Amino acid sequence: KHPFKVNDEGHLMVGGIDTLELAEKYGTPLFVYDVERIRKNARAFVDTFKKRNIRAQVAYASKAFSSIAMAQVAKQENLSLDVVSQGELYTAIKAGFPVERIHMHGNNKSREELKMAVKYQIGCIVIDNFYEIELLNEIVNEMNTTMNVLIRVTPGIEAHTHDYILTGNEDSKFGFDLTNGQATQALKKLKETPSLHLKGIHCHIGSQIFETDGFIMAIEKLFTALNTWKEEEDFECEVLNLGGGFGIRYTEEDQPLPLENYVDALIDEVEKQTKKYHIPFPEIWIEPGRSIVGDAGITLYTIGSMKEIPGVRKYISVDGGMTDNLRPALYDAKYDAVLAANVNGNKEEEVSIAGKCCESGDMLIWDIHLPKIRPDDVLAVFSTGAYGYSMANHYNRFPKAAVVFVENGVDKLVVKRESFEDMLDNDLSYN
Ligand code: LLP
Repeated sequence: KHPFKVNDEGHLMVGGIDTLELAEKYGTPLFVYDVERIRKNARAFVDTFKKRNIRAQVAYASKAFSSIAMAQVAKQENLSLDVVSQGELYTAIKAGFPVERIHMHGNNKSREELKMAVKYQIGCIVIDNFYEIELLNEIVNEMNTTMNVLIRVTPGIEAHTHDYILTGNEDSKFGFDLTNGQATQALKKLKETPSLHLKGIHCHIGSQIFETDGFIMAIEKLFTALNTWKEEEDFECEVLNLGGGFGIRYTEEDQPLPLENYVDALIDEVEKQTKKYHIPFPEIWIEPGRSIVGDAGITLYTIGSMKEIPGVRKYISVDGGMTDNLRPALYDAKYDAVLAANVNGNKEEEVSIAGKCCESGDMLIWDIHLPKIRPDDVLAVFSTGAYGYSMANHYNRFPKAAVVFVENGVDKLVVKRESFEDMLDNDLSYN
């Protein structure tokens, strides 16, 4: 079910360390990452391209979890890095991440963000709209340099986890529409802009996708456009960036494919299309976020109060909630959990796990079966490694949780728990 070991006493282990010890040592709520698992996920992507001898970049989407330590692990695993803000770029640079492997996204990149990207000469900027072409061109000329760019296109396919919606004109805030001529216009504009070197195109069809057909449909659409652009615009696509979105397991209901299968399917389809149109095989880039860190992370909470409504429900409250995991409140996302001290115990209670925010919607898990629970027990929620810490917030003024990396029996604090002083650092008096 979950990729973690259980020791002889029935305790949940991560990277060779007892999670109860981690909860004791660092306090809760606590994000714990199994670094070996992060590496394994990353290698599933990287090695599959390598095995098939395909030039590729696997760019970790740092929005899933951005921190100095994570950028360092990404560097160690030869990943590239997708950033969507100056903050994520700043983190990558502070971590010593190779700038030539950083790609920048965003539908409203500010002048300042673009300037920083140009100053550091990052690998490429993914152009999202016409305004950005003008703005970036101006900046690049002011700074007397050039920049590699991709254009982001919307192929008219949107993945909704199990099915795909085909839209004629794509109604999205991101990118240039492939079907209404705007993408072609952007291509023409960039051809007339010599300081911006157009390397290729980008598309991202969605997130938490379990099948490969959506990617295949998108690739078909992209190559129809590439074929037209080859003939009419003399454009050769060096880089084809297919985005992220590979699904992971949160609960038993989720049946993701092995990560290798996604890569194989992408390569197979690109092979098919390049042959069909006699187009040279481009370098393939992907941008997995969730599938690299999601199942490598768990959150440890301490259980506090309990409320039983006879015949209705038993609420079990933990010391975190929507401040460290917004996903259940925001997307109705489902999670699985165990008692860290009794993973395989008899699941005799049906309970619902509540966060401690002042909001009825702050529920982490509805109707889960667990062994008998007592206050001060540690609850471990699985698959919280992506979009947990990165979407953490200060609602009700809860300080942000700490993050620990564990590998080969060694635990290391990589993001300190926020103190009240940290949180009030920017508050000024009005007296
Ligand atoms: N590339 C682009 C252009 C993206 O927009 C995204 C995600 C990714 C890559 C990475 O997708 P992944 O491999 O992680 O699925 N906060 C939401 C997810 C938002 C994803 C936004 N874009 C959640 O918690 O489910």
